[in-house]
This record gives sequence, structure tokens and C-alpha cells, in this order.
Amino acid sequence: MACLGLLLLVSIVTSACIACLAHNDDAPPPDCHRQSGLRLQAPFQPGLITLDGLSSDWASVSGQSFVPLQAIKPDPAQPYASGPLNIKVVHDGHDVYFLLTFPGPFEFTQGDKHKCPSIALMFGIGDDATYNNMGGCDQNPDACSSVSCEGHAVDLIHFSIGDAIPGRLYGANAYDNANSTGKDSIGSLNDMYGWNPHCRYFDGLLPNGSNIPNSGAQNDWQGAWSHSSMDLTYGLTSSDSPYSASGAQGVFTFEFVRPLRTSDRFQQDVQFTIGNTHRFMAAIWFPVNHVPWVNYQHYTASCDWIPLDVEPSRKLTQNNSLSVISGVTLLFSLGALVASATVCWWTRSRRLVPFQAIEMS
Ligand SMILES: *[C@@H]1O[C@H](CO)[C@@H](O)[C@H](O)[C@H]1NC(C)=O
Ligand SMILES: *[C@@H]1O[C@H](CO)[C@@H](O)[C@H](O)[C@H]1NC(C)=O
Repeated sequence: MACLGLLLLVSIVTSACIACLAHNDDAPPPDCHRQSGLRLQAPFQPGLITLDGLSSDWASVSGQSFVPLQAIKPDPAQPYASGPLNIKVVHDGHDVYFLLTFPGPFEFTQGDKHKCPSIALMFGIGDDATYNNMGGCDQNPDACSSVSCEGHAVDLIHFSIGDAIPGRLYGANAYDNANSTGKDSIGSLNDMYGWNPHCRYFDGLLPNGSNIPNSGAQNDWQGAWSHSSMDLTYGLTSSDSPYSASGAQGVFTFEFVRPLRTSDRFQQDVQFTIGNTHRFMAAIWFPVNHVPWVNYQHYTASCDWIPLDVEPSRKLTQNNSLSVISGVTLLFSLGALVASATVCWWTRSRRLVPFQAIEMS
């Protein structure tokens, strides 16, 4: 019966998907033959991930390794020097989770994001949104609008960790969401949208900085970070900053979560659907050799959109409708058996009582 219950439950569950992107400021599209067959799969894995900036709970999930190259001039001879970027994605039917890990010496300067590593994710929203030039809308900043750049919208998140305590959540907070913007004024994990590298804005804000009335905009993300050289056993507070020794070798871990769907009404958030493939990109900024990074200096995981499949539950797709139908049939047969036994017993006991009563009187 437990088995049948599970089958029925599984038959109710269906499928979803995700999208993404990156950028090259006005440069021609780079040669994109360096890594072929890159793809990310987000399996259905409910109850597995704690959003704590640590990766041990992801051990059973398979990921994809990327060689991060400079976004502006991707030169395979000059990758991000410390090693590959590994990305894993899962969903639980409601939220989608991202894990990014990459080796690197510990670099952190409280309050100065350019002296800390920083991460961005990009997703394609509009049909015509290209990876190259962050959506590829051919307009100057003063001419960008949802009309002039229609179809080029990309969804962006950017996490600058200079004010973020390792292992704690940043992103969505009541203070900023009350204003209907994607800004995170506490931890700088901002939810943004854009049409090209010069036309990037917080969700809910117009290019001129005004709030969009009734935009439905929120910061829908949460994220956390850590470095393997830290001792996180008892939790950290801001008084522990800088949290580890400068230059300590180890691995940076970034974790993000967002609901598959959001309340956005202006094409500022990608909307994920189970069973669909979305367009994705990830980027790293890093103060290599203690040199603060500048905005255009970032490494991207690839030089074109990475397809991201949001997978349906495997139990549903493998056992498919045949097992569900035979499960339901078996359930009905069992029900019929129990019902006939009950009717038998009931009629027998009804018949016996009056018979005995007559005998005794
Ligand atoms: C919310 O909006 C008000 C009015 O525009 C502004 O004064 C305030 O600073 C905003 N709050 C945040 C957190 O941005
Ligand atoms: C920004 O643009 C909107 C729509 O075009 C307009 O209603 C608003 O007044 C503008 N805000 C400012 C501060 O110029």
C-alpha cells in the first residue's frame, strides 16, 4: 500500500525548467568552439539542500566543470588561474538551487567589493536575448526602454560579498521588498534586469530611476558564501571579519536559491518551468594577486548560453503511465475485495441475529 501511495503521489508531480546568460561589451562574438556539449541539468531533489554557503549536502548531485575565461577577450591561454568553476543545479518543485565552487586564495576586504570575489548569474528572458552584449539590444543608455529593447531582456543577479557574513543569507529582505525593488541594501545580492551592458537596472526601477508602478517586483533570490579555509563550526559574526587569513588556499562556495516563478509583470525575471530548457551563464570577478577588479574584468563559464534543463521527477518519467494505471487498477481491485468481504460479513451477521432470537423465544 505504501508503494501504491507513492505511485499516486508521484503521478501528481510534473515537470519544470530554467534560463540564463553573460556579456561582452560591444566586442564581436568570440570564437565559441573551446568547450562543446556544455549543459546543465537540474534534477528534482526535494529536501536535500540547506542554503548555508556549504557544499557537502550537494555531494550526490552531479555538476559540470567550466574553464572560466575573460568575458571581453576569451583567451584559452589565460583562464582564471586557480582552476575550474564547478556548477550544480537542483530544484524541489518550488525553488531552484545553484551551487558554484571554484578554487582560489582567500581574498576579502570588509566593505570593498572590488577587493573580494563576486559572482553574477544571467538568464535569457526575451526571445532575442543574446549572450553576447547581455541581451544584445542595440541602443544607447538614454534610449533603452522596454519598447526599444523588446525581446532582449536578460535576468541578472549580482552578489558582492564585501558586506556579507559567510554562511548567512542575503538577497530578499523585507526592507527593500517593501519598495518593490530587486535591490539588496544589506548584503548587495541584487536582483536586476538588463538589455545590454549599459542598460542594467534593479528589478522594479525604470532606466531613469523611478519606481515602475505596480511592477510586482521583488528581490526573489537568496544566497550565501564561504571559503574552505574558514572555521564555520559555531557560526560567524561581523566581528570575525575578515573571517580567514589573507591568501589562505582553498575553495570558494556560493549558493543561491529562487522560486521557479515570481510575481514580476515586466519581463524582469526569468520564469522557470519544469521540463523546459532555459538559457544560463555564470561569471566571476576576482582580485587576482590582490589587484582590485574593475567592472569589465570578469571571467565567464562559457562564451554562449549554457542550456539548463529543469528536469521532471525521474520516478514519473521512468515508470510512466503504465505503472500508474496498473497501480490504480490494483488499488481499485483491493478496494472491491474489501467492500465485498464487508458486505458478506454484514449480511451474515444480520441473518444470524434474528435466527437466534427466534430459537430462544
Ligand atoms: C524606499 O523608497 C523611499 C521613497 O522613494 C525611499 O526614501 C527609501 O530610501 C527607499 N528604501 C530603500 C530601502 O531603498
Ligand atoms: C521616469 O520615466 C517615467 C516614464 O517615462 C516618468 O513617468 C517619470 O516621471 C520619470 N521620472 C523621472 C524622475 O524623470
